[in-house]
Amino acid sequence: MTALHTWPSGPDGLRELYPREPHPTLRVNFIASADGAVTVDGVSAGLQGPGDKEIFDLLRASCDALIVAAGTVRAEKYDALRPDPAWRLAHGLPEFPLMVIISGSLDLDPEQLIFADAPVRPIVFTHRGAPASPVREVAEVIEVGDDRVDLAAAVRHLHERGATQLLCEGGPGLLGSMIAADLVDELCLTVAPLLVGGSAGRIAQGVPAPPRPMTLRHVLTRDDMLFLRYARASTR
Ligand SMILES: NC(=O)c1ccc[n+]([C@@H]2O[C@H](COP(=O)([O-])OP(=O)(O)OC[C@H]3O[C@@H](n4cnc5c(N)ncnc54)[C@H](OP(=O)(O)O)[C@@H]3O)[C@@H](O)[C@H]2O)c1
Repeated sequence: MTALHTWPSGPDGLRELYPREPHPTLRVNFIASADGAVTVDGVSAGLQGPGDKEIFDLLRASCDALIVAAGTVRAEKYDALRPDPAWRLAHGLPEFPLMVIISGSLDLDPEQLIFADAPVRPIVFTHRGAPASPVREVAEVIEVGDDRVDLAAAVRHLHERGATQLLCEGGPGLLGSMIAADLVDELCLTVAPLLVGGSAGRIAQGVPAPPRPMTLRHVLTRDDMLFLRYARASTR
């Protein structure tokens, strides 16, 4: 049932609104401007605010694996995944979630902090036609698919390793592919109170796919931002 909530007074209240699910879940987290732009000057930083940052950190801290595509790793200069381990350890989870990168080209910098400072060896899903790359020295490279990354196979692989609470931070190319493969169970979308105009893209792009019905789980507001939580309308 849809609920309009005021912003919770503490982190536990916020966590209750974004729980770990009792079943395997792929949750996507994005921010867009009120006119649908996914970036300002090529990155998402210009859209963000304090409430968004709290949800971003909370979702990272409670997932088993964070999935991000190579385009976003490069554009946003991703560093190592190190959410505060206190809550994780108190809830019986490994100290750090898995960091998972989707890349066909393996054109990734092994010296980028996402690899060089990683507390746990990151996983890179690629395909069997991927080239040699120095990233193979700093990550566990797993080939799924012949000439493109088979995202459903990647998700299955993570489930088999015990990572069932998956968080995807995009970018739009990856979200478009995830939608096409019908892998998205939940979308957490922050709407920032900005009109950006210009040529920025939207949160998903890619091949045409059938529209996927979603239900609205909750709406939160803070500082003129909207925080929407949508979940898959029907179970498969
Ligand atoms: N507002 C937000 O919340 C938010 C969130 C994330 C990103 N962004 C922004 O989005 C932009 C990057 O997005 P993007 O769409 O260009 O790139 P992207 O979705 O982050 O990455 C696309 C790349 O993922 C790899 N890939 C491999 N297999 C794939 C598959 N099956 N489906 C999709 N991708 C696959 C490919 O990497 P290779 O090239 O290595 O083969 C492809 O070029 C940046 O400007 C970033 O700042 C905004």
